[in-house]
Amino acid sequence: MIVVKTRAELQERLNEAAAKSVIGFVPTMGALHSGHCSLIDFAVENADYIVASIFVNPTQFNDANDLKNYPRTIENDLKYLEQHGCDLVYIPDVEDVYHDKRSFFVDLNGLDTVMEGEFRPGHFDGVVDVVSRLFDIVKPDKAFFGEKDFQQLSIIKYIAESLDVEIIGCPTVRESDGLAMSSRNMLLEENYRKQAFVIYKSLIWAKKNYRKITVNDLKKEIENRITKSGKFIVEYVNIVESDTLVSIDEWKDKNINCCVAVYAGKVRLIDNIKLNY
Ligand code: PAJ
Repeated sequence: MIVVKTRAELQERLNEAAAKSVIGFVPTMGALHSGHCSLIDFAVENADYIVASIFVNPTQFNDANDLKNYPRTIENDLKYLEQHGCDLVYIPDVEDVYHDKRSFFVDLNGLDTVMEGEFRPGHFDGVVDVVSRLFDIVKPDKAFFGEKDFQQLSIIKYIAESLDVEIIGCPTVRESDGLAMSSRNMLLEENYRKQAFVIYKSLIWAKKNYRKITVNDLKKEIENRITKSGKFIVEYVNIVESDTLVSIDEWKDKNINCCVAVYAGKVRLIDNIKLNY
């Protein structure tokens, strides 16, 4: 596995090694876990030459402390990437990614103003900016993103419509108790970690029972179930059309997702489930 720190080196390696292959790209912010590794596995199955990036992108953090505390485990990350068959890793500094001062601004047609967009203002501007820059640098044929970050995946699919990159969404990988894997999980205090299964359990309950009650009652019920222990604070529970992310207030036969954001002490967790297809 080749590790490079600059665009110039990356492009040189890509020219040498991947001229005629399908380039699969997995962008990450590091602190890798089995969720990230599953994206590399999907990439290995669906592409010939696998590029990953590790870059804690400052522009998508709307909270300076969150950026400061974001876990960094580079040695481990490199081990995982190599084990899973990654060919090339790009670990740039801020200047290498943001050397071109123009930002990639796109009108996201309202996809960025709900849910995460509402509670983390500017977050998706940063995500879109960095992903556009990384696509511009790596020029992948296919890029792999997790359904765990459901709204991010929708937004990336939207911006990629005008780019020549196929976006592949990959299922959420979970801990044995159901908690969605996240780099932030390692920041959870033990008493929160022990109870955090309640988030996914509530989503599973919602999937089984949603037709029996109204959309509003379902949202309330999910919130009650998550907050019952007195440990967690729910920031939002939203039921949306999977493609447009528009909130629904009556049930539809297909394409609805239930998305939640929950504070476990200082750590903010998100999760989602497809209620129907
Ligand atoms: P990061 O949080 O490191 O996640 C990198 C990729 O891993 C994203 O596509 C995310 O959805 C996916 N992922 C995270 N946890 C997962 C899980 N439990 N199961 C499956 N996939 C999972 O998302 C980002 O970084 C950044 O916003 C980024 C796209 C790299 C732009 O900076």
